[in-house]
Amino acid sequence: MRSFLDITDLDVGELELVLDLARRPVADLGRPLDGQGAALIFQKPSNRTRHSAEMAVVHLGGHPVYTRGDEVGFDERESVEDVARIMSGYHGLLAARVFGHSIVERLAAAASVPVVNLLSDRSHPLQALADALTMIEEFGSLTGRTVAYVGDYNNVARSLAEACLMLGASVRLGCPNGYGASDEELERLTLLGAGSVVQVPFAAEAVAGADAVHTDTWVSMGQEAEKTERRRVFESFTVDAHLMSGAASQAIFMHCMPAYRGFEVTGEVMDGPASRAIRQGHNRLHSARGLFAFLLGVR
Ligand code: CP
Ligand code: NVA
Repeated sequence: MRSFLDITDLDVGELELVLDLARRPVADLGRPLDGQGAALIFQKPSNRTRHSAEMAVVHLGGHPVYTRGDEVGFDERESVEDVARIMSGYHGLLAARVFGHSIVERLAAAASVPVVNLLSDRSHPLQALADALTMIEEFGSLTGRTVAYVGDYNNVARSLAEACLMLGASVRLGCPNGYGASDEELERLTLLGAGSVVQVPFAAEAVAGADAVHTDTWVSMGQEAEKTERRRVFESFTVDAHLMSGAASQAIFMHCMPAYRGFEVTGEVMDGPASRAIRQGHNRLHSARGLFAFLLGVR
């Protein structure tokens, strides 16, 4: 039984296979969920993840069942393990967006069908698949490319860094002190691929000469109480046209969205010619379909 809680649950060959499945025509994937359901449980709001996952299930012949986290009531109405065991009898796939990463780990340990992390406090691996797919479409391959991430070293950044390194890119993180990857985390990342990982406390240094510049919100879901403080700390980390002018001449800008224009990115960059954010969002569907197909045994 394969689950997908982090990018590193795949080896490099499997990651490449998932990205290959994502690019195959829907008809070539068969209908691995034919006649089956897929439970999609959300403890947090979502646009892209919910819609892309639901439609990926439909493309694979299945029926998505969306459920709000408070309806399921993990460890309140019933235990995470009981939810996993019961739902495994109804569905061919379970997926959840959770606050604490341990919930998806416990679901995966108790379920008898694949479990997918739809975003946790630790990681957002489905997003990183779409990010990688979008950059591969753009560059042909990530080998030897430099990918910059500016902002908070959060769930999105962690999964993105893992995917980029596994696919042969070098990663530059530009994060304020106290909001970056720990030394241990940087060491862990370094072991994932041949490319280098560098973290600097300035946006411009991270972006210099980069092929792709990524950012994400400064205030992730669940951190709303820190909004004022975070906006102060991240003030000099806005991706604007001046910052982008220090990247490679054909550099692209990427954002997992939702985007907060005027904070982590200016409207000029988000909606400008270098932005691939909408395509990246659309690729959430294709990458989710490829991943689900892989977990269900399509090769
Ligand atoms: N990027 C992303 O996960 O978007 P949603 O929160 O809208 O699903
Ligand atoms: N880091 C953000 C990503 C949203 C898709 C969050 O966790 O809220």
